Amino acid sequence: QPYADDLYSDNLCGFPHFMLKEIQQQPESVQICLAHYFHAISEPLLSVPVNLNEVHILACGTSYHAGLITQHWIEQLVNIPVRVRSGSEFQEAPLPMTANTLTIGITQSGETADTLNAIALDKQRRLAQSEVFQPHLLGITNQPNSALSQRVDWTMPTLAGTEIGVAATKTFLNQLIVCFYFTLELALSRQAISPETVQAYWAELSTLPAKIRAVLQLETQIKPIAQAMINQQHCMVLGRGINQAIALEGALKLKETTYLHAEGYSAGEFMHGPIALLDERVPVIAIAPTDSTHAAMIANLRQVKSHGSPIIGILTEDVPPETASLFDHVLILPAIADPLSPILSVIPLQLLAYHLAVQRGLNVDKPRNITKTLSE
Ligand code: AGP
Repeated sequence: QPYADDLYSDNLCGFPHFMLKEIQQQPESVQICLAHYFHAISEPLLSVPVNLNEVHILACGTSYHAGLITQHWIEQLVNIPVRVRSGSEFQEAPLPMTANTLTIGITQSGETADTLNAIALDKQRRLAQSEVFQPHLLGITNQPNSALSQRVDWTMPTLAGTEIGVAATKTFLNQLIVCFYFTLELALSRQAISPETVQAYWAELSTLPAKIRAVLQLETQIKPIAQAMINQQHCMVLGRGINQAIALEGALKLKETTYLHAEGYSAGEFMHGPIALLDERVPVIAIAPTDSTHAAMIANLRQVKSHGSPIIGILTEDVPPETASLFDHVLILPAIADPLSPILSVIPLQLLAYHLAVQRGLNVDKPRNITKTLSE
């Protein structure tokens, strides 16, 4: 496989920056992760209790966004409640204790202090009343020998290889693959979905490496968009449904690498006040795949357009021609089953953040004020 050996290498392998190398490696890192997890979908890798009442997810930053997407997947496919809390908020506001609850910690590094402290507190509170609230802890991490693994009952590695760029890219995609696998396994064990449905998702997942390659081809269209944004000071990223979390993630990538003031919003919530920020100097990036959210998204974007903002659309190939005219730039993704769209829709945002940072002359692999891991 091209680049497969380079996944664990800590040199640039011919790329100008680690962030670009890591974005470009995503077809291979996803392929490896899929091969690891999905060959045995009917022979579960974990023995997570099936009588769960709730799932709690603790994570920070990009990993928190993976948690929000996982919340959507588990609630929709398994039909049990999921609460997601930032590790940095958990000390002051721990989640209510519930019986038969699985707590999942998601952290690329496995060393983020906020997430580790939240996991430790969750375990301590449950052990203190273990006759009612037994702790069940699952860690999802790219570093299976990290501190996280010592604090949890099960560890699922994300197998993305070495990530050196401060901005998480390929580790995020692999977190999503692992979290979707976990969702399917949980759904199957609880008979919430049929084996045939799982097979249909597996067939979709196996198309991902080729579809990610197709999305990476958008780079030539993204470079001039970055050029057009070089002097902008503000930008909004909008999504609905499951892509609301990708709006947050895209805005985070833009902020941390380009220092552009980017805000991610639910397109619906954006109408309740923040739309007042818009004028022709504030571009809007709209994640608008042709799914059940599309009509509402287009209605929101018509309002956005009336305030003069240029709109960059991240759309799917079946976008109706009558809506295409709303957009000043169009980036077309391959069609994919609706729940999996975040795995493709985040990639143009990664590439935009990368090219805008480079065109602004910034140190894209080591942005100011932050480090790769916020450990203790
Ligand atoms: C991601 O691009 C950021 N650098 C940052 O938000 C990061 O995701 C966060 O600090 C959590 O890191 P972790 O996944 O290693 O716990």
